[in-house]
Amino acid sequence: MKIVIIFLMTFILSQPSFAAMPHRHHQMSQEGPQEDYAFSGELKEGVREITVEAFRYGFKPDPIVIKFNEKVRLLASVTDVTHGLMISEFKINTPLRKGQPKKIEFIADKKGSFIIHCSVYCGTGHSRMHGRLIVK
Ligand code: CUA
Repeated sequence: MKIVIIFLMTFILSQPSFAAMPHRHHQMSQEGPQEDYAFSGELKEGVREITVEAFRYGFKPDPIVIKFNEKVRLLASVTDVTHGLMISEFKINTPLRKGQPKKIEFIADKKGSFIIHCSVYCGTGHSRMHGRLIVK
């Protein structure tokens, strides 16, 4: 019995999700080779407009890919409960309530890969609700 428990503990502790704690709350800018994603959304009169959905527990699209120095407009909404869309490096933190889509505008003046956090408690998966913003 004891051996089984020790085995289980070793197994649990070796899992990547466990190893990743405490979770990263800051940017992963300049991390590794950048994957070759297509840009998200579409250009409308010089502004990249992207429809973003927040849900338990993630953001869609993921990643959101934009061009350096572009003007960006996120049309953000939720499909279930209230969430928050936060990208610290761009000083964005907007609560998203059901039935109340929000326009979030900013200029992509930093290159790299940034974590999108959910900033409103939305359930047991809240702290691991992340998305990614890639500026290239
Ligand atoms: Cu979604 Cu917290």
